[in-house]
Amino acid sequence: MTYSLFHTNKVIAGVDSILQIADVVKSFDVTNVVIITDQGVFNAGLIDEPKVLLEKAGINVYIINDTPPEPPVDKVNDIYKTAIQFNAQMIIGIGGGSAMDTAKLVAILLNNNVLLRDVVDGKSKFKNHGIPTLMIPTTSGTGSEATQNSIVLVPERELKVGIVDEKMLPNCVILDPKMTIGLPKHITANTGIDALCHAVECYISKKCSPFTEMFALKAIELIAKSIRTAYNDGQNLQARENMLLGSYLGGASIATSSTVAVHALSYPLGGKYHIPHGLSNAILLPDVMKFNLEACVDKFAIIAKTMGLNVDNISPREAAEAMIEELYALIRDLNIKCDLKAVGITDEVLDELVDAGYSVRRLLDNNPREMTKQDIKEIYKKIM
Ligand SMILES: NC(=O)c1ccc[n+]([C@@H]2O[C@H](COP(=O)([O-])OP(=O)(O)OC[C@H]3O[C@@H](n4cnc5c(N)ncnc54)[C@H](O)[C@@H]3O)[C@@H](O)[C@H]2O)c1
Ligand SMILES: [Fe+2]
Repeated sequence: MTYSLFHTNKVIAGVDSILQIADVVKSFDVTNVVIITDQGVFNAGLIDEPKVLLEKAGINVYIINDTPPEPPVDKVNDIYKTAIQFNAQMIIGIGGGSAMDTAKLVAILLNNNVLLRDVVDGKSKFKNHGIPTLMIPTTSGTGSEATQNSIVLVPERELKVGIVDEKMLPNCVILDPKMTIGLPKHITANTGIDALCHAVECYISKKCSPFTEMFALKAIELIAKSIRTAYNDGQNLQARENMLLGSYLGGASIATSSTVAVHALSYPLGGKYHIPHGLSNAILLPDVMKFNLEACVDKFAIIAKTMGLNVDNISPREAAEAMIEELYALIRDLNIKCDLKAVGITDEVLDELVDAGYSVRRLLDNNPREMTKQDIKEIYKKIM
């Protein structure tokens, strides 16, 4: 088997790393930058300091702040058209996965003469790398700043589609934990578990390589150590820094491997029922890992140790089971709940949901244990 490493050129991390934003932008010799963000991030005041720092350095800054959550394809296209009017030479994505995925797509559309719709439908491909990008995550979840993926909603197909192209890998990343301090508790919980899913899933994926092992295990260690503190004490900068670095490394894991059944079964919950990405993954994670146990005893035992569980004098099988129990405990401790019936997921739609989950072959084919439609049905029933 051969394996590859796609990685961002430059990552600046740590408290106050945001202060280097103007130097990063000036290194690309550009004068017009477009910041792509969303209302929540904008209203939290997170764009103010970057804007002032850039303007002080003589850079023209245009702000597009209406990225919707879990962005639909046509809305991304509208944002792209606005960015053309601003004569963007560089795109800065500031926000969670929704803003960063949009920013990455806008940057590559600006350098390619194709319709986003055609790319989503698989009729066209991007030929060129995008214009330069800088990603500044404000959630610790998707790791989009480290991946070659962007995910868009195709409303008429009630489906979320992943566009995967190494030419979309961001050029630069700033990981400043201060940008995540005000993240509300429930979003800290959901997005933090999304990051943990990336690391765990990529590590057990059939595509896992030695590169993935390095990124994923460090991500698991950092997230397991800090997720409860980040949730209970959002002002704790060390916990926030660990989560931000952990989610970046979770993204780097995706870039060298792939997520598996958690993300596959999660896609229809987001595409059709609009459950936020982190939340739908979080409610699926423990039950999917319980299903995978037979195929992953040794790797789960390593994860258990990496998470800091006391597994020294027990068998790998017992350690693997302890890891699964810890996942259930995490979901309980972070108060993660989702009333599926309230969003319309009842027994009547179960078969349809199973078909939709089963069709996400890009991810399911890499799951370490084959999943039949009946297996998928059992898992959905458990979370209902
Ligand atoms: N590209 C990838 O590799 C990848 C991987 C996983 C998920 N995704 C995609 O990312 C999207 C989800 O991203 P997300 O989970 O980061 O959520 P998000 O970007 O939708 O943000 C969630 C909410 O948090 C708010 N918010 C963000 N940062 C904040 C802060 N610091 N303070 C206060 N409020 C803040 C936002 O305004 C928004 O309302 C989905 O569309 C998902 O499919 C992409
Ligand atoms: Fe994810």
